[in-house]
Amino acid sequence: NGKINIAIDGPAGAGKSTVARRVAEALSYVYVDTGAMYRAATWYLMKHEVLPEDVQEVLQHVPKMVIELKPDPSGQKVICNGVDVTAEIRSLDVTGNVSRYASIAGLREHLTSGQRRMAECKGVVMDGRDIGTTVLPDAELKVFMTASVKERALRRFKELREVGITLEQLERDIAARDKLDEDREVSPLRRSEDAIMLDTTHMDIEEVVDTIVSYCKTAI
Ligand code: C5P
Repeated sequence: NGKINIAIDGPAGAGKSTVARRVAEALSYVYVDTGAMYRAATWYLMKHEVLPEDVQEVLQHVPKMVIELKPDPSGQKVICNGVDVTAEIRSLDVTGNVSRYASIAGLREHLTSGQRRMAECKGVVMDGRDIGTTVLPDAELKVFMTASVKERALRRFKELREVGITLEQLERDIAARDKLDEDREVSPLRRSEDAIMLDTTHMDIEEVVDTIVSYCKTAI
């Protein structure tokens, strides 16, 4: 079908999901937000009062978790075992705990195999932390998107204005989540050797989208 797979990785708050969604729109590709899947798993495990330290119990729940991403005019709906969790998975509670559950190998394997299935027919833009390194090592185009911690905190701050969290707190939270994601043993956040590094600190969304779409044209 002439389509390729595009992997977009990078740290929290770099704008990956906004950009990935727009790139998918521009190319008529399917957007897959893998962070939403880790968030849905976190929501599910927290609802069942399973702690991330309790790996055995987490692993007992893993096969029972069915996480679906459904296209929706307002973006993408996230469904976990039939429940629409699109809003809940963005809560501070889920955000604050997701990296701890995401370090569990058995949980990652479960979500990774679902992600690979979604990309089998090509034409997917997938964003996350380990897409280029682990989930889709054969993706035809890999981009590692970053921005300074300060800039990423500022972008989140503008999104979250009403929640009453300070910019300094956001900066600390983002740095802490990056550290957990970079230091974990399984599929840590790192740039795949063949990924194009894109520092977006001084770029707006439009520019980033156009840049990735132009990379895509040369990758085909
Ligand atoms: O992208 P987002 O910020 O929604 O991701 C939430 C968390 O999910 C990340 O901080 C990371 O711990 C985890 N994650 C992951 N691997 C992915 C995507 C997300 O470990 N491919």
